[in-house]
Amino acid sequence: MKILIKNIKSLVQVEEKTRLKISGAEMKTLSCISNAWLAIEDDKIADFGEMKDFPGISDWSNLQVIDATGKLVFPSWCDSHTHIVYAGNREQEFVDRINGLSYEEIAKRGGGILNSAKKLQDASEDELFESAMKRIREVILQGTGAIEIKSGYGLSFEAELKMLRVIKRIKAIVPISVKATFLGAHAIPSGMTKEKHIENIINEMLPRIAEEKLADYCDVFCERNYFTKEETVKILSEANKYGIKGKVHAEQLSHSGGIEAGVKSNAISVDHLEFANENDISILKNSETMGTILPGAQFFLGLQNPPARKMIDAGLPIAIASDYNPGSCPSGNMNFMISLACINYKLTPEEAINGATINSAYAMGLSKTHGNIAIGKQANVFITKEIPNYAFIPYSFANNPVETIILNGQIFK
Ligand code: NIG
Ligand code: FE
Repeated sequence: MKILIKNIKSLVQVEEKTRLKISGAEMKTLSCISNAWLAIEDDKIADFGEMKDFPGISDWSNLQVIDATGKLVFPSWCDSHTHIVYAGNREQEFVDRINGLSYEEIAKRGGGILNSAKKLQDASEDELFESAMKRIREVILQGTGAIEIKSGYGLSFEAELKMLRVIKRIKAIVPISVKATFLGAHAIPSGMTKEKHIENIINEMLPRIAEEKLADYCDVFCERNYFTKEETVKILSEANKYGIKGKVHAEQLSHSGGIEAGVKSNAISVDHLEFANENDISILKNSETMGTILPGAQFFLGLQNPPARKMIDAGLPIAIASDYNPGSCPSGNMNFMISLACINYKLTPEEAINGATINSAYAMGLSKTHGNIAIGKQANVFITKEIPNYAFIPYSFANNPVETIILNGQIFK
């Protein structure tokens, strides 16, 4: 199967020599080709260039030609942080927050993550799978072509395994790339001490999860009333022993040392970062860990802005992800996340698009194969509706610019 997209108004995020991540001032540049063509063969990007240099078609067999006059072509968004396997919703907590309660106060009353954990206990594997597949379809239609999915609403051994098995089923069936993350350290299960829960994570869950190859990454919610930076390092260093790299929910509601713990554990990413400070920025500068912002969760919970602008100005890369989950961000629309990063954090459209493509691919270990238009990369791309330019995506906030989706070289229906 071959696809040729021709007359593309702008082919966005092209790289001849691809970088694994884009940092600092370089994030301001987004390479594009105007009036371009793109050739896809099987599931890979085969070639691209300017229409004026188009070599013509020598072999019409098995070829589908798409005319993209007036339209832009992008590499699919990479969403490196989601919790899309969950049961039920939490709109009552949303109303409670409107009426004055904070996220932390709701959690203290047994709401929050424990509320989702209770709902998940009662849901069957099939129910969880079906509802997560609906969300996957929804985000694919919004341009997402690679996604990370966390456990963490199970908390008990059995329920965490149930979640990870659902993620494994999703991985096997969906046309987008999926990475699985074990987030046993998301909260402390009710009726259990934190020490006991950490002991279970380390001595029971991690060995079994590693044996069944159920997780690509291990995550910890490093936060006051949840897990300390020392506990984060302890859990992630155990995961590292199985070759499972870390990720950290860091500095979301308070400064808790999650960035320091993540860098110390050689985590692939540290995410949220609302309370990151100057010292954290210098810690990140001496690391390979990707700072990831989740503009939807910050917006939905009304938290302070993360220092995203400062981080880029200090020379750091930044990734953007959705955090799609029932408590702090019930949306996985990456177009909207890009808008929020531009509107609220003053990222330029180029910076935000780099953040939601190559840098978010890096944050889930996929930047060798995803995140830009380059020969040999996975043919996960989308064609927009007729729009004037790429800045229109963050500008036209909360709309969906995506018209045609190609995943693994096939048009997604
Ligand atoms: O990324 N911060 C911790 N975990 C999730 C939200 C969890 C929830 O409220 O369900 C987050 O925001
Ligand atoms: Fe999260």
